[in-house]
Amino acid sequence: MGTAAPMRVVFHAADTRPERWVRSLEGLLEGAEVWAWNPQEPPRPADYAVVWAPPQALADAHPGLRAVFNLGAGVDALLRVRWPSDVTLVRLDDAGMAVQMAERSCEAVIRHFRELDAYEAQARDARWKPRAPRQRSQWPVGVMGTGVLGERVLRALAAFDFPVRGWSRTPREFADLPGWQGFHGEAGLAPFLAASRHLVCLLPLTPATEGILCQRNLSQLQPGGLLIHFARGAHLVDEDLLALLDSGHLDGAVLDVFGVEPLPEAHAFWRHPRVRVTPHVAAQTLRDESLAQIASRLLAFHHGRPVRGRVDPLRGY
Ligand code: NAP
Ligand code: GLV
Repeated sequence: MGTAAPMRVVFHAADTRPERWVRSLEGLLEGAEVWAWNPQEPPRPADYAVVWAPPQALADAHPGLRAVFNLGAGVDALLRVRWPSDVTLVRLDDAGMAVQMAERSCEAVIRHFRELDAYEAQARDARWKPRAPRQRSQWPVGVMGTGVLGERVLRALAAFDFPVRGWSRTPREFADLPGWQGFHGEAGLAPFLAASRHLVCLLPLTPATEGILCQRNLSQLQPGGLLIHFARGAHLVDEDLLALLDSGHLDGAVLDVFGVEPLPEAHAFWRHPRVRVTPHVAAQTLRDESLAQIASRLLAFHHGRPVRGRVDPLRGY
């Protein structure tokens, strides 16, 4: 009786030193051959790839791949690559990212709602000046994308009693959330925006969502809120946001993702007094959580069991 051939797994994550990731994967996939892709070396045949933002050359060098596991939730970079037609693409679901999105969204909404920036400015001048409390019911938060990350954000905001609204492609119901209003599809976008003051964007980047954070849409929000953008830079039309900040329709923006990353030093967002910038870290990929999820899905796939997190390339996410 022959022994089964070991699984062959190639690893590549742009801008990441691969050694610890490869060692962790080896530990999780007992008996598997795992290596970091080196385009300078002759390619070794691989059955599986574990990747973040892979170049086309990686796919070209591994025509026998059966499945590719994305080291992130967003698959826009993965889908820019031409893979073998029968390959299965799998993305991360949560893996420790949902709680990070929830804490960043709540921080932004609460800081604005409780006027903490204004109190900090007063404190710098030793000025003791309580402000009238705001009415929470007047500060509805809309979340674009009510998937794995958006749902966690909605639930976290609802726990602070903010009225929450969600917009998705297909209908989603969160009837257990007090103050919940759900909208979906193109026809649901205008009423969703009109029902929201703050806006959190957690959409995947697809042809249908590119440029969606534009003047026409953002100007339909109730005035005086924040744009909290944690999805992808290409959702946002930068100059439209700047115009809406200057007109006062939007009171501020919390931005984590940009059309060009790193955000160029000369970009207006860095120095705008009502824009807060972070370097694409709203929800970071956590090595242990992510590799544990990928290893368990890779083993399920290898043994012919169902796998969650499959990407639909036609849908784009
Ligand atoms: P997900 O579970 O796939 O959820 C996507 C949501 O977007 C779903 O509710 C989906 O609707 C909705 N959607 C997709 N296309 C739409 C359209 N055309 N119109 C309306 N709604 C649409 O994704 P996720 O795991 O929550 O991740 C969301 C995104 O977050 C990722 O794609 C990535 O870009 C971003 N992200 C950013 C960071 C960061 O650090 N900044 C980290 C992780 C992820 P249905 O429910 O009807 O399918
Ligand atoms: C990060 O941006 C991700 O998509 O996981």
